[in-house]
Amino acid sequence: MSRVAVVTGGSRGIGAAISKALRAAGCKVAATYAGNDDAANAFKKESGIPVYKWDVSNTEASAAGLKQVEADLGPIEILVNNAGITRDSAFHRMTAEQWHAVINTNLNSLFNMTRPVIEGMRARKFGRIINISSINGQKGQFGQTNYSAAKAGDLGFTKALAQESAKLGITVNAICPGYIATEMVMAVSQEVREKSIIPQIAVGRLGEAEEIARCVVFLASDEAGFITGSTLSANGGQYMT
Ligand code: CAA
Repeated sequence: MSRVAVVTGGSRGIGAAISKALRAAGCKVAATYAGNDDAANAFKKESGIPVYKWDVSNTEASAAGLKQVEADLGPIEILVNNAGITRDSAFHRMTAEQWHAVINTNLNSLFNMTRPVIEGMRARKFGRIINISSINGQKGQFGQTNYSAAKAGDLGFTKALAQESAKLGITVNAICPGYIATEMVMAVSQEVREKSIIPQIAVGRLGEAEEIARCVVFLASDEAGFITGSTLSANGGQYMT
């Protein structure tokens, strides 16, 4: 699969595993990141995958960044909208800042990143757009009205764009990871994690980032052309839809 792929938030956590798996599958990969230069440089050094710094919640920065990637690597054929943040709080204490930060990064980024590449994909009659949503967009999560709303929005975006793109060789799918052993999940207090999260996971453990990356490689493959508008849950049996 020697295609050009962009992975947002691609230098850490689930994104880093996705970038590496796509590269191992033969893709030319660009990994974007927003702020952590040290982590991005370490990732680049270790993996050999080029990194690009911009904020996916910024419309102009995303368009400019994607233009640069295309100048460096060629037309983008696979887009993985993975970048995401949490600002957990009970809703009655949530600030407007916490709300908007999560909606901008986890939902508005799908417009910012997809709009600049969709016309090229339509013209070339091939594209793979994979949106990393979340179990918490499917079931809702105490403390995450902002995150659950954004991640549920990602699923609506996926289904609508899948319909618009289906006849043009472009598939649009979502993956809903459950709780994966990344910094984001480890930031939840150990007490909450061990008492109220892990006991709900049927397989009895957190997931591994590579387990999500393998789902992405499958959906990105040429062979997955009949799968579009779908939501692939990878949550260890925590929530069955
Ligand atoms: N369901 C019902 N009640 C809950 C609850 C839950 N899931 N979680 C907490 N409560 C209750 C507590 O028992 C407590 O009740 P009492 O006052 O009667 O004791 C009350 O709500 C307040 O709880 P906290 O003391 O925890 O309140 P807090 O304000 O300190 O923290 C919180 C609130 C930030 C939401 C914290 O509970 C928390 O971090 N929860 C985890 C949220 C979570 O799962 N985030 C996922 C992050 S990872 C991710 O998002 C990746 C992904 O896609 C899966």
